Amino acid sequence: MIGLFERLARPFLHALDPEDAHSLTIKMLACAPLPRAAGDDKRLAVRAFGLNFSNPIGMAAGFDKNGEVPDALLRLGFGFVETGTVTPLPQRGNPRPRVFRLNADRGVINRLGFNSQGAEAVLRRLAARANAGGIVGINIGANKDAADRVADYVRLIERFAPVASYVTINISSPNTPGLRNLQQAGALDDLLARVINARERVTRQAGPTPVLLKIAPDLSLAELDDAVGVARARRVDGMIVGNTTLTRPASLREMKIAKEAGGLSGRPLLPLATRMLAETYVRVEGAFPLIGAGGIDSGAAALAKMRAGASLIQLYSALVFRGLGLVAEIKSALIAALERDSLDSLSELVGAEAAAVTAETWPH
Ligand SMILES: Cc1cc2nc3c(=O)[nH]c(=O)nc-3n(C[C@H](O)[C@H](O)[C@H](O)COP(=O)(O)O)c2cc1C
Repeated sequence: MIGLFERLARPFLHALDPEDAHSLTIKMLACAPLPRAAGDDKRLAVRAFGLNFSNPIGMAAGFDKNGEVPDALLRLGFGFVETGTVTPLPQRGNPRPRVFRLNADRGVINRLGFNSQGAEAVLRRLAARANAGGIVGINIGANKDAADRVADYVRLIERFAPVASYVTINISSPNTPGLRNLQQAGALDDLLARVINARERVTRQAGPTPVLLKIAPDLSLAELDDAVGVARARRVDGMIVGNTTLTRPASLREMKIAKEAGGLSGRPLLPLATRMLAETYVRVEGAFPLIGAGGIDSGAAALAKMRAGASLIQLYSALVFRGLGLVAEIKSALIAALERDSLDSLSELVGAEAAAVTAETWPH
């Protein structure tokens, strides 16, 4: 049903400005009576960060920034949903237009700049569905004009820990000036010390809330060494690799749109993001699980991410081009791979090719 509806709606949505199409999609998801996806095959189950996922496919942050449709997305078959990025105070983000489709490349460039309805609105929605079950995480960010950005993260952890399955510290958006500097060793150590401390303070009332760190795919390997070292020392529960890239791969065909400022996502991001995932995996040495994001648009790409080191995966841009049927397609591909290799669970795939990926020539 949803597949047919989508196939009919997609040409119409693509005729709209990407941001208008997105707002309309959120409205449709909020209102339409959605069929519940079939129950997941037990072999797709993943345990990570102390949580039980019925399948490893997550909706990446940025799709449901304000927590309006997490339950609709879970019904449609996602194993988890990351709402946000939410900022403490409402903010509008950058002037429009600020989202661009690279149709020939199956890519997207965005410079939204953390447009958010703010913590109170999102908190109210997540609190209202807190007993509904399903894994719904929250991705948190600092207000653009915050005097003390670390204090923003601390405040958001305290507010959201009681209503979110996990919290992601987003310091990798390229669209808030200076935000990515928080990934540097000294700043990151201070940030994580304060954030983990805040998490410990609220654990008594909120229960244990996993804290994940989302990094940019644009770190140098020396910067990645530092980021992983700090993340391990401060005992985060996991990392997401990663956010959009400021680079523009030489293979891009939409040359004119590629000049727009902002972060690139979708298929052109797959090689870099998968390489950085494998580089992270070999540095983490099993200390915590990883979520792989960036360019997943097929079952094969999902499998490549897991073999490069992802216990879980997230996607966003491919939904613009492939629609929600992609989720079921990836599940079938994962099951087929397990059967082909006579494996009992996805955990046996994770990282199997990480070392091999790190030995390839650097993707350009
Ligand atoms: C329009 C758009 C908005 C995004 N907003 C956020 C955001 O608010 N927070 C965040 O951590 N990542 C955000 N992302 C990044 C995605 O979560 C994801 O990391 C990235 O797009 C790579 O995955 P993909 O290639 O499957 O899209 C956004 C991506 C897009 C395309």
